Amino acid sequence: MSGSTIVPWVIGNWKMNPAWASSQQWIEQFKQHLQQSPILEQQCHLAVAPTAIALNRVQVQLDNAPRTVHTVAQDVSRFSGTGAFTGEISATLLADSQIGYVLIGHSERRELLGDTPDVLKAKITQALAEGLTVIYCVGETLEQREQGVAEQVVLQQICDVATVISEQHWQNQMIIAYEPIWAIGTGKTASAQDAQAMHEKIRAGLAQLSPAGQQVAILYGGSVKPENAQELAACPDINGALVGGASLNAESFYQIAQAFAANQS
Ligand code: PGA
Repeated sequence: MSGSTIVPWVIGNWKMNPAWASSQQWIEQFKQHLQQSPILEQQCHLAVAPTAIALNRVQVQLDNAPRTVHTVAQDVSRFSGTGAFTGEISATLLADSQIGYVLIGHSERRELLGDTPDVLKAKITQALAEGLTVIYCVGETLEQREQGVAEQVVLQQICDVATVISEQHWQNQMIIAYEPIWAIGTGKTASAQDAQAMHEKIRAGLAQLSPAGQQVAILYGGSVKPENAQELAACPDINGALVGGASLNAESFYQIAQAFAANQS
C-alpha cells in the first residue's frame, strides 16, 4: 500500500505505433483481460495515447470496454481554434472529438521536434482553455544527472510553464509525468528509490506553486515493465506510470495496471 489517496494513472504511450490492425487486436485483448479480471475505476485510471490518425477509432473501439479506458492525444497545436495551420490539430478540435487528455512536453518532442519552453507554454494554455487534462512530461538527461543538476532541471521545466496554470487547473486538469530521458526506451529504469526521491522533490515543488499541488498525480515513465511495476507502485509519491514500449503488448500493459491497482486495494 502506498498510503496515497491519489488514484493512480497507468497510461500507454504508443508513440508512432502501431498499424491499425495491431491496435484493433490490442484493444480486443485488453478488453478480455479487463473482463476476466477487472481493475476497478477507483483503483486505477487507465488510458492509451495512440497516433493522432487512430485517436477516434481507438476511442470508439474502447467504448464498450468493461470499464473506462481514456484516449489521450500525444500532442496538440500551439495555435487555437481552426484556421490555416497545415498539419496541426488544435485543442479545440481535440475537444470537439471528445478527446479529453493530451501529453505535452515529452522528451522526444522537446529534443527532436522543436518543443521549446515557450511552445510548451502555448500548448498548455490552449489545452487547458479547452478543458483538456494535460499530462506534462519532465525529465533530465544522463549528463544532467551525472552533473548533479537533475532536480534543478526538472523543477525548472515545471516553473517554465507554471505561469499559465491556475490553482483550478492544478486541481482538475494537470498530471505530471517524470521521465528521466536516459531511462526512456533503454531498458534502464531509475531505481525505485531514485524515482521516489525525485517525485518527492516534484511534490514539494508543486506544493509551493499551489495548495492543490499535493493532490496532483505524478507518474513515472522510462522502461516501466511488469517486472518493475510493483516496486515503483509501492513508492508513496509515484502515482502511476507512463508506459512506452511495454504498453504495445496488451498483456504487459494490463499487468502494469494491475500492479498499480493492487497497491490501492
Ligand atoms: P519507455 O517509454 O517505456 O519505452 O521507456 C516511456 C515514454 O517515452 O513515455
